Amino acid sequence: MAQAAAAAITDLGVAIAPSVHWIGALDPGLRSFDIILKTANGTTYNSYVVRGSAGVAVIDTVKENFSATFFRRLESVARYDEIRAIVLNHLEPDHSGALPELLKRAPQAQLYISSRAQPMLKGLLHGEQLNYMPVTTGDAVDLGDRTLHFLQTPYLHWPDTQCTFLEEEGILFSGDVFGCHFCDARLFNDAVGDFRFSFEYYYAHIMRPFRAHVLEALEQIEPLPLKLIAPAHGPVLRDAPERYVVRYRELSASKLKNEAAGEKTLVVFYVSAYGSTRAMAEALAAGAEEAGGVRVSLYDIEGGEVSPFVDLIEEADALAIGSPTINGDAVKPVWDLLSSLTAVNVRGKIGAAFGSYGWTGEAMQMVEDRLRGLKLRVPVRGVRARLIPTVEELANCRVLGEQLALHLTGRVENRIIDMAELA
Ligand code: FEO
Repeated sequence: MAQAAAAAITDLGVAIAPSVHWIGALDPGLRSFDIILKTANGTTYNSYVVRGSAGVAVIDTVKENFSATFFRRLESVARYDEIRAIVLNHLEPDHSGALPELLKRAPQAQLYISSRAQPMLKGLLHGEQLNYMPVTTGDAVDLGDRTLHFLQTPYLHWPDTQCTFLEEEGILFSGDVFGCHFCDARLFNDAVGDFRFSFEYYYAHIMRPFRAHVLEALEQIEPLPLKLIAPAHGPVLRDAPERYVVRYRELSASKLKNEAAGEKTLVVFYVSAYGSTRAMAEALAAGAEEAGGVRVSLYDIEGGEVSPFVDLIEEADALAIGSPTINGDAVKPVWDLLSSLTAVNVRGKIGAAFGSYGWTGEAMQMVEDRLRGLKLRVPVRGVRARLIPTVEELANCRVLGEQLALHLTGRVENRIIDMAELA
């Protein structure tokens, strides 16, 4: 263990397999990544060199301000004129930061990126002559006695993401996939401290919103004869790499099974200062219940703890959110709930908003806009009520619930819209 630590903290490349070196950078001081992710001890930007009998490949680079370390490690294992291929599995700046300089130092090298990465490359190298080869699943680079195979794995976690498999050594260069923000100079998963919490946290925040794409990628990854996973962040997974593939499969399964026995599910959340928005929520729920075919659940989120509801919403078919308008805005628990939805895929679900107000009543529209921004469908206009809802306004809430149920169960009649309604 001590030897591994000593090897990783020098400026030399670290051998991870025959003819394969880690040449990345350690960033132990980082505490916040991409603004939203916290890390207790930093991260690593992993990049690798593969030497074949017919040339050298560099796989990924590092964040720009770690370029000097990256180039020193690269120079310790290869000359620039030997580099035949540069592979970028993902173009986010933490992996592409040293690319422009590397292209200058190794101008003969062919750059390989996923076919979906082309717009991002143009965004990175403004105005520069772009010479690259877009690749997809089935494409390969022949380095003589070493071969790199590409696997297109989009949306893990950007559209451009791909993995690269080194056939002869059974190494998957997986980009962000199977990575974590955990910095330990001992580098290998069997030598570093316990990083399981970081692996799970990283999955929850980076990969979970793209769960369906993770499952598609696993279909390609699981059959590979893996001996080692070399991710772009965190420990190199040389001990039992298949364990991490299995864990991704487990984490990508549904958290909560739909227990509605084939029924559609509508979850209704509300906050209510004086009982008005609650009365509207209850009327909406009753309307949906009466329409039938939908399991309706009602939750008061005034307590502010919204994280338990994220799993519920991920599996629900529709959600309705009720907020009073206070100081021209929806209330904090509602915004907390809405912001937590970026961790799951809610695209295509049905959404609705409602709420009472005193003067201006902006909350309903704000919530509807946010639901649309999250790519939910908002097929029915919400209901607002000034102060205490009237009998008619509560009836409108019942109709809203009924309409949501009809949309969920495919029983909405096509309506002919009179042009006058659009005026
Ligand atoms: Fe590690 Fe998505 O960049």
